[in-house]
Amino acid sequence: MKIVTGPASRNIAQEVATHLGAELVIPYYKQFPDGEHYFRLPEIDPDDEFVIIQGTHPPQDKNIVQLLLLTSGLRQLQVRKVKAVIPYLAYARQDKAFLRGEVVSFSAILKLMKEAGLDELVTINAHAPWALEKAPMKTANLDAIPEIMSFIGKDCGKIEIVFSPGKKGQEMSKVAANILGAEHFSVTSRRDSLTGDVSIDLGDARVSGKNVAIIDDIISTGSTMIQVIKELKRRGALRVIAACVHGLFISNADNQIISAGAERIITTDTIPTPHSYVKVSKLISEYLKNSKG
Ligand code: R5P
Repeated sequence: MKIVTGPASRNIAQEVATHLGAELVIPYYKQFPDGEHYFRLPEIDPDDEFVIIQGTHPPQDKNIVQLLLLTSGLRQLQVRKVKAVIPYLAYARQDKAFLRGEVVSFSAILKLMKEAGLDELVTINAHAPWALEKAPMKTANLDAIPEIMSFIGKDCGKIEIVFSPGKKGQEMSKVAANILGAEHFSVTSRRDSLTGDVSIDLGDARVSGKNVAIIDDIISTGSTMIQVIKELKRRGALRVIAACVHGLFISNADNQIISAGAERIITTDTIPTPHSYVKVSKLISEYLKNSKG
């Protein structure tokens, strides 16, 4: 197997290649003065198996175009099968038309990837796993929650309750709490389709004097996390750890989360941030080692 690194995920690609004892292919890359991207691939044996590693975190559109070009370039060299590991998969939050006339961006992006020649897409905690199941290529959605929770268990002291917001909160908080031997609680969260405002509901959760963790798949603007932290603090929670798989932290959301009362933020390196304590290279390597075809 050959690991082809995209410019957006060099560290992860390097680590995966090391874990697997695989060759790392670094395509020559430059950007033209007008901003267009240029790649040149080295001599390759088209019978090898190729895995591109390229996240599509911000700047999303640039990273997506680079992925499409690399995929298409491998196809141009007659490679039979192309897999891509996309640690953070962009546009997954627009997986349907919430309002009449809205473009379903996620399915449009997946179609482009298929069209470029992608046979298999591997990602981590996709925002809309249900939409991924309808993708026009084989997909795998890896789960980094156990790795994050193991880190919290070792590095953040005793946690007594784990909270998770949103549609996936029930499942996410259960998986996370099991690892810590803690209780779990799912938080109802709603986002207004027009204004984007988030409202949360912690029901009858009792947290006075407790150490708690909140785990979400994505922290973007931080609105959801900040509201949950504030409500937990208002109810008397002692220590609050804020965790997520993908830390976008738009407009310094991480600083606002700390100001709202979180003791620490823990996230993975799918998007490199100062809070990326958990590496995903081992999770990816295990999948690639064990997957067939
Ligand atoms: C929602 O379904 C997601 O799981 C996250 O809760 C959401 O994407 C977080 O966004 P923000 O940080 O902007 O509140």
